[in-house]
Amino acid sequence: MSVEETATEVTLTHPDNNKTFVKILKYGATVYSWSLEGQEQLWLSSAAKLDGSKPVRGGIPLVFPVFGKNEDDEFLSKLPQHGLARNSTWEFLGQVSANPPTVQFGLGPELANPELTKLWPMDYSLILTIELGSEHLKTHIEVSNTSSSQPLKFNWLFHTYLKIADIEDTLVSNLTGAKLYDQMLQESYVDRQPVVSFHEELDRIYQRVQEDRLIQVIDKGHPIHTVKRHNLPDVVAWNPWVEKSKGMADFEPKNGFKEMVCVEPGHVHSLLELQPGQSWTAYQLLYKDELNYQVL
Ligand code: BG6
Repeated sequence: MSVEETATEVTLTHPDNNKTFVKILKYGATVYSWSLEGQEQLWLSSAAKLDGSKPVRGGIPLVFPVFGKNEDDEFLSKLPQHGLARNSTWEFLGQVSANPPTVQFGLGPELANPELTKLWPMDYSLILTIELGSEHLKTHIEVSNTSSSQPLKFNWLFHTYLKIADIEDTLVSNLTGAKLYDQMLQESYVDRQPVVSFHEELDRIYQRVQEDRLIQVIDKGHPIHTVKRHNLPDVVAWNPWVEKSKGMADFEPKNGFKEMVCVEPGHVHSLLELQPGQSWTAYQLLYKDELNYQVL
């Protein structure tokens, strides 16, 4: 069977290789493991809660309808950091294709975390489609405004924790020239460095990165992850380093920051706004590619 469902999670296994699989928790519709021919591609904290008691620390948590904390919008500002999708149990909608194995999950206000839905009482429908290729993982989102009268304002982001060998040997490429908001310095500037390197906590929101820019994670000169984006113009790069990791109870081991980097494609610099009846779609594609410096 290429798709197996339990009460709490769904596993897709590729028909050509049983060591290529993806595991998705119904809580948050969070991908928490993606193995490619036996090699884990995503970082997961050993203290991550997989029991629905808090969002998963690792894998691919889904950020909706707000990235970080919103301070301006009457309703979004009431939600906790990163919204309500990652702390709601999604409905498994079933398999939509046999090869590559593809499944869907759904969320709407009737299913979402009731405490948070009270704070953000909007009508919406989310459909997440997860496709496991023999050499890729595609996560596709459709957001629809199901209200007959109110606009729907939101952010979307795939909060992808990529597994790496050593952060000090890791570079992230093809973000050069993009304007960014540096959450550490709390200021905006244009990144003129040829690549992003990591020597301390780094938390940057790159804005309006051209869609044809492939974001590559490079380990000692070799590209180990390539991230392609559709309709996700902003890219967050994050590594918590020593002090921030210490402060996160569910971040273990404490030196685990050395083996992870978050590259998070999203639409977070501004809010998207859908009129009643409208839908919006976007995807993230994780795969392997040749080294491709598109800009230096
Ligand atoms: C990143 C943010 O996307 O998520 C960081 O840029 C934040 O500022 C990080 O610390 C983790 O957030 P959380 O809510 O999962 O601890």
